[in-house]
Amino acid sequence: MKKCLLLGNGGREAVLAEQISKGYMLYSIMPYVNPSISEYVEKSNGKYLVGDSFDKELVKKFVQENNIEACVVSQDNLLQEGLIDLAKELGLETFGPTSKGAKIEWSKTYALEIVKKLAPEMIIKNEAITNQEQLDKVIEGYQDDSFVVKPEGLTGGKGVKVGGIHFKGKEEGYQYAKDCLEEAGRVIIQDKVEGREFTVMALTDGEHIVVTPTTFDYPYRFEEDKGPGTGGMGCLSFENGRLPFLEQEDIDKCADLIQKTICELNRDKIEFSGVIYGGFFKCKDGIKFIEFNARFGDPEAINVLNALDTPFTEIFEHIQNKTLSKENCKFKNNYTFTVYVVSPNYAIKSTKEPCEFILNKQDILDKGVKIYFASTKHIEGNKYTSVGNSRLFAVSTTGATLEEAKQKVYSAMENNIDDILSYRKDIGEIYEH
Ligand code: GLY
Repeated sequence: MKKCLLLGNGGREAVLAEQISKGYMLYSIMPYVNPSISEYVEKSNGKYLVGDSFDKELVKKFVQENNIEACVVSQDNLLQEGLIDLAKELGLETFGPTSKGAKIEWSKTYALEIVKKLAPEMIIKNEAITNQEQLDKVIEGYQDDSFVVKPEGLTGGKGVKVGGIHFKGKEEGYQYAKDCLEEAGRVIIQDKVEGREFTVMALTDGEHIVVTPTTFDYPYRFEEDKGPGTGGMGCLSFENGRLPFLEQEDIDKCADLIQKTICELNRDKIEFSGVIYGGFFKCKDGIKFIEFNARFGDPEAINVLNALDTPFTEIFEHIQNKTLSKENCKFKNNYTFTVYVVSPNYAIKSTKEPCEFILNKQDILDKGVKIYFASTKHIEGNKYTSVGNSRLFAVSTTGATLEEAKQKVYSAMENNIDDILSYRKDIGEIYEH
């Protein structure tokens, strides 16, 4: 059986671990023992190492000592740091882009340049700013805070700030933009537009793409989409792969951009395989581009991988052989529903103080849902602790209707989630903004 290394340690990696372990022996290097990843490693007779997955010497040694043959990476900073490049150098089969391919995520200006060239009609008016003078001039041009500040680099989904939502008034937006400029030497100021946000992800072998069911993410920390932005508090997808406010032609437009982007990135050689994630707005005047990610979203991966009909390891093989197609990469016609449980201070206060909590895991699993651990460590029995101040675990299921899936998740959580923890109780509502 093929030996496959998975790097990264979030809920996204927990579901990838589940999928990989169904067909391969799973190997992992993680900074702490993620209870889901370790469970799937053990089930597949693989091996894990607690260590720094950014440490290339450590990764190389682990790969060579264990005769590992394949590698999956879907975490933004590991991709930027070139862990797929390393895996390729070591002769492994890979799922994920090289650092050069992942530039579409770690450089917002690069992504905008590509989309401007391939689909200019999808661009929202923006300025890539590289000095203070330019920033002053651009902000002066706005009457109020109807602009968006986008940091240049990776921010774990928490860096983009929208006027009127994340900052109030021009001055506050200006100060944030100034901080971003000082930090990265570059910041993007973009017009604020009215629209509904959605995600289109596609699997790719570097030539072909297969679009996954479209997902709807809940990035705001509190109910009714209030509070600060987060990595995602929940996510859903529909049985027809669309969302109620989207037409098939909207998704086709996004898929067309994604296909052209893959061709552009791989013009000289294959830099990009794995997953490409496009964030879009549906506006009155058409579909607009927000951003690309070079990986599965988290929690979007949990939804999409639970909708797969084809085993993930078969898809992995098609990606290696450049034979990926709609015929050999199929999704079920089901609804998927995920809710993330987080530390009380997540996205609110910056504290690294660990938070201990009780989780009667089996009581939740007995209700027919799944748990994917993220920033959580097991202490003993039903005691767990957070690792830092982040998302702890996701509860997810699928169903024949959205209501069924939602009911299953929320009733499994009722009385079973420690009062100290926090989660949104309105995942499933689709708000108009
Ligand atoms: N859920 C958003 C992201 O993974 O970037």
